[in-house]
Amino acid sequence: MTRALSDLDWPLRTDHLDLRPGRPEDAAAVWPWYRLPEVQEWTTTLSPTLEAHEQWWERSLDSCVVGLQDGEIVASGKVDVQDAWSQADMRDQAAGQQAEIGWVLDPAVHGRGLGTEFAAALLDLAIDGLGVRRVEAGCFAENLASRRVMEKIGLRHEGTFREESLHRSGRWLDGMSYALLASEHRERSRH
Ligand SMILES: CC(C)(COP(=O)(O)OP(=O)(O)OC[C@H]1O[C@@H](n2cnc3c(N)ncnc32)[C@H](O)[C@@H]1OP(=O)(O)O)[C@@H](O)C(=O)NCCC(=O)NCCS
Repeated sequence: MTRALSDLDWPLRTDHLDLRPGRPEDAAAVWPWYRLPEVQEWTTTLSPTLEAHEQWWERSLDSCVVGLQDGEIVASGKVDVQDAWSQADMRDQAAGQQAEIGWVLDPAVHGRGLGTEFAAALLDLAIDGLGVRRVEAGCFAENLASRRVMEKIGLRHEGTFREESLHRSGRWLDGMSYALLASEHRERSRH
């Protein structure tokens, strides 16, 4: 049985970050950097105003984890527990068996290894904390930084999908899918 983020003991600590679940008031705190073009270039949801951003943030709170440095939020991510695909008669057993993880960092701290550190913590959270059996992440193929983060935390490239995704520039871009099984993650942790 998988757990919810609210079931875990918080805050968590990585080498350089304090992690805790997102709160409604965090929306305004991250807005000054979340709204920057280099961030919104790759985010699924474009929020044109703080009010729209706050509404989207509120809807995303169940899966939201933030990373803080010196009390400031520099990372925002998700660990979204989902039902695995199954044949219809197996749905109950497939429910909550996988999680999608994702990350966005304040550009002021890019290039210091924090994206990798934060993403690795989300992977650990999904597997060791929530108990899912498979973790997935996806990105536009042109998002080289995010692809590198996925590789560095040990996710396996499982597919590149030709012009699968429509970017807000109007271009159809290749999408990439990465994943790891909990069993593989545990096996690696033993070595
Ligand atoms: C993706 C993101 C989280 C990476 O954060 P970061 O803190 O800069 O990442 P790290 O410092 O841990 O670097 C990770 C790797 O990516 C590489 N990298 C960073 N930017 C890159 C770029 N523009 N092109 C190619 N590689 C890049 C780094 O060199 C590093 O690899 P290395 O150790 O082999 O040199 C950050 O760029 C970001 O928030 N981008 C905007 C939002 C976004 O794209 N989110 C993901 C949506 S799928």
